[in-house]
Amino acid sequence: MKLALCKVEDIPADKTKTVDFFGREVLLTTVNGKPKAILNICMHLGGPMRREGDKLVCEWHGAEFECGQGKCLKGPADRDSRLITFPTRIENGMLTYVYGE
Ligand code: FES
Repeated sequence: MKLALCKVEDIPADKTKTVDFFGREVLLTTVNGKPKAILNICMHLGGPMRREGDKLVCEWHGAEFECGQGKCLKGPADRDSRLITFPTRIENGMLTYVYGE
């Protein structure tokens, strides 16, 4: 399964762009120049997140996650938790979700 998410050139370096993924929000951002796609659901109670520097910070209770692999840096989310990151590759200039190939 493949699904084009966004033109790579439209993904901001130090902010996020939100796209729809079957009714769920996915945050697109770049880390060290590489695009990332991360489900916009905090691992504490499901709150939305915003990018602050190198971190994604939950808008509800302030949990912090690193942008690259989604690892929890600060609670109240479980410190062993990770955000859900999407497998992607770039095809024809589009960041594309790829599963099962
Ligand atoms: S829902 Fe994110 S810290 Fe509580």
